[in-house]
Amino acid sequence: MDPLRISRRVTTGLLAIMDQKNHLSYPALTRPGLDREQLLVHFRHEYLVYVRDFPVLIARVLAQVPDVQDVRFKLAENIYEEQTGGVSKTAPHPELFLRMMEGLGFSREAFADDDAWLHPAALEYRDFLRTRSGIEPWQAACALLTIFVEGSVHERLELTGVRVRQESEKDVHEHPLVKHYGCPPEAMELRRAHARVEGDHREDAWNTVLEHVGDEGPVFDEVLIRCSTALRLWQAYRTGVAERMKLTCQDDEWLEDLI
Ligand SMILES: [Fe+2]
Repeated sequence: MDPLRISRRVTTGLLAIMDQKNHLSYPALTRPGLDREQLLVHFRHEYLVYVRDFPVLIARVLAQVPDVQDVRFKLAENIYEEQTGGVSKTAPHPELFLRMMEGLGFSREAFADDDAWLHPAALEYRDFLRTRSGIEPWQAACALLTIFVEGSVHERLELTGVRVRQESEKDVHEHPLVKHYGCPPEAMELRRAHARVEGDHREDAWNTVLEHVGDEGPVFDEVLIRCSTALRLWQAYRTGVAERMKLTCQDDEWLEDLI
């Protein structure tokens, strides 16, 4: 990305938030040593909190966008890929997630909806995403979903081109679920689909925000408030899941992308 765009207030504000989208429990998720129950607690939460309904959350954002055709186009393309896998020529991403879970030996039934089972902090974060994806200004809803939820702690390195998402079979074979937990590489289509399309999605997400949010004013304020609130709720959610998994925190490693 152009250095001038990286130095803008909206970019620095959002990157400061994304730099913190990490959790002390994450290194444990990329190492061997978790038991089946711990894996299920983590992945069932991820599925029910945002993976299963992600296309619908993006659709809520699209439903608010006024006559800004390029933004509508990008969001529609994002929904199309997430709900059908049509761009990556794979399958709906929630379905790819379940196939990955089957690769780990879990049944689809193990991912049934159950509000009573979810950690209260997970419910709070999920409900925040459901409501705030449909509340104006549309730029804040868009940043919440396409920058905060779809993005990762690696956002800064990716924007500056230091880190590039790998699209290779080596990346799949090196993935912790394959390497440590016996998931067959053929069940990792979600990883391949993301590698194929996420680079463009990240670029679209940042371009949209930078083109439609200024560096001051009420929209700028709301974009940062919404994403920083999401970060606070996400941290609490991850802490809740770590407690359920009975994980001890380690702070000496970076988060790796699990999905
Ligand atoms: Fe996806």
